[in-house]
Amino acid sequence: MTDYRNIVILTGAGLSAESGLGTFRDVDGIWTKYDLNDVATPDGFARNPELVLDFYNARRENAKGAQPNAAHMALARLEAAYPGVVTVVTQNVDTLHEAAGTKNLIHMHGELARSLCNFCGKRHVWEAPLQVDMACPTCEKSGGLRPNVVWFGEMPYAMDDIYQHLSVADLFVSIGTSGTVYPAAGFVAEASRIGAHTVELNLEPSEGASLFDETIHGAATQIVPAFVERLLSDS
Ligand code: OAD
Repeated sequence: MTDYRNIVILTGAGLSAESGLGTFRDVDGIWTKYDLNDVATPDGFARNPELVLDFYNARRENAKGAQPNAAHMALARLEAAYPGVVTVVTQNVDTLHEAAGTKNLIHMHGELARSLCNFCGKRHVWEAPLQVDMACPTCEKSGGLRPNVVWFGEMPYAMDDIYQHLSVADLFVSIGTSGTVYPAAGFVAEASRIGAHTVELNLEPSEGASLFDETIHGAATQIVPAFVERLLSDS
């Protein structure tokens, strides 16, 4: 493996699967049990805020007990030990990257552990269940609090920052994501366009597997630490 100066790593639900958090599109995935139009769109929230808050309250409770796995730990070790810049862009709304020690992290789909006020736009650390009639601690209006999670039809966070990192990347690695949700699914094409080496680490070939220069398939807790060791021993 060559020496890379700027590594961008995109992560998805498959990274946290072995920490006990469900993925979205696998056979028993979250979107096989819920209609995403009901629970993950602004229209769904307008129609039935209680249903949406309950869905995310349950996910927040579930995420609370989860621990980072060997793949999260390996990525944190890479950032700390690698001589170049390592940036992790995650689609995951859990806090397992942070718990593992990753610092250079972008939560492009938001964070379950924060609320967002639809009225004033303020975000607050939020660990308790959200209820429809709760007041925003900043503007004090009731009825506008939602999880700080990006829904379908909304623009993911920090896109300028992400494309800035991609524009200088010489290695792009996609881990545990099905490659079905844009704009994240388009990052591999963007990285290839500017000449980065691209690698997929996933349980099985994703939708976009053929777009990658290299693909390694297996469980994240096995293949991510091995890949990180390879990068560190070549640097
Ligand atoms: P998906 O559920 O679409 O895909 C998870 C991927 O992880 C699949 O390709 C699995 O094969 C793979 N996988 C499962 N277990 C794994 C393991 N142990 N090791 C490695 N890979 C494994 O989840 P995402 O691609 O993250 O967005 O989904 C993208 C977005 O769609 C999410 O951020 C969410 C969702 O709807 C929003 O809610 C806006």
